[in-house]
Amino acid sequence: MIKFGTVGTGWITESFIQAAKLSEQLQLVGVYSRTEAKAKQLAATYNAPYIYTDIEKMAKSAEIEAVYIASPNSVHFEQALTFLKNKKHVICEKPVFSNTAELDEAYQTAEENGVYLFEAIRNIHTPNFRILKNKLSMAGKLRSTMLPYIQYSSRYDLFLEGDEPNIFSATYSGGALVDLGVYPLYLAVGLFGEPKQVSYHPVLLRSGVDGSGTLVLTYEDFVCTILCSKISHSELRCEIHGEKGTFVLEDAAPISEIKFVDSHSQESQIVSVEQAEQNMVYECINIARVIETKNDEEYQQLKNWSKIVLRITEEARKQNNIVFASEK
Ligand SMILES: NC(=O)c1ccc[n+]([C@@H]2O[C@H](COP(=O)([O-])OP(=O)(O)OC[C@H]3O[C@@H](n4cnc5c(N)ncnc54)[C@H](OP(=O)(O)O)[C@@H]3O)[C@@H](O)[C@H]2O)c1
Repeated sequence: MIKFGTVGTGWITESFIQAAKLSEQLQLVGVYSRTEAKAKQLAATYNAPYIYTDIEKMAKSAEIEAVYIASPNSVHFEQALTFLKNKKHVICEKPVFSNTAELDEAYQTAEENGVYLFEAIRNIHTPNFRILKNKLSMAGKLRSTMLPYIQYSSRYDLFLEGDEPNIFSATYSGGALVDLGVYPLYLAVGLFGEPKQVSYHPVLLRSGVDGSGTLVLTYEDFVCTILCSKISHSELRCEIHGEKGTFVLEDAAPISEIKFVDSHSQESQIVSVEQAEQNMVYECINIARVIETKNDEEYQQLKNWSKIVLRITEEARKQNNIVFASEK
């Protein structure tokens, strides 16, 4: 069991703690919050023996071996670096950092300190991702792919009322592509690799970040289109079109169901398995396994995917002059 602590007290932290418990590989021992009362409350709910209100102290504590970070995006880098320098493994929520310069520095720091850094992204760790990857050749020569992740955010109502929630803020490295687009983007990179060309067409908000957008990834023989939005709703499914057949995915994350439709007969079959309701459990299991077994091959692959995804979102922002505050 790897002893871990958490940073951030939003609902996603609770989901991760529950998934960690289910995985039976990660044991919650400490909780950090900027507010003592919040740390106490979360620790009491999940029986964590230690609470922290000082990141440096938490990073130096002998009680924890790893940390899960779920603070606003722009805060990830500084917090992650503090833990890595103190030889703690870091599991950091997506989008891992604001740009590739930060990511390179953090991987370097992890290596120097003999620990690992992971981006917490649920879909690429699921059994259905693996099934899709193994069965992809059933589709024959790929020709086009459409991967939407469009989800109206309740925080957009606050934005419309004049507030600036972190996820719609350039100060906190927000926006639709880095928040939701990363799920289909990870899918594309995990399945098809790095594209030859990237082109992003965003709808910009008054805060300077994208509320929605279309990302076009050009590969050798086909084009992958990613639609992401936090300001509208959609019922679209993901589709991967090959000459021999089409894969229809219920969603880009957690990939809850995959149907394969033959191009000629139009007969369809479900090729996916039923996944755990608490689907973050798969990332917990895989990440814990990499740490425990020091599986360098798997780590390098995860690292490579993280780098490609961040390189693409960085390029997409650059094309559209979406600049985060930390970069000014
Ligand atoms: N994997 C997923 O499915 C998923 C889902 C949702 C979010 N996320 C990711 O999780 C992260 C957190 O998202 P969220 O929506 O929970 O963010 P959030 O509500 O803006 O902040 C999360 C927590 O961070 C702390 N915090 C808030 N503002 C801060 C600041 N200025 N400086 C330092 N700490 C601050 C707060 O905890 P304290 O007040 O207790 O310190 C807060 O509970 C993001 O990176 C997001 O992309 C992932």
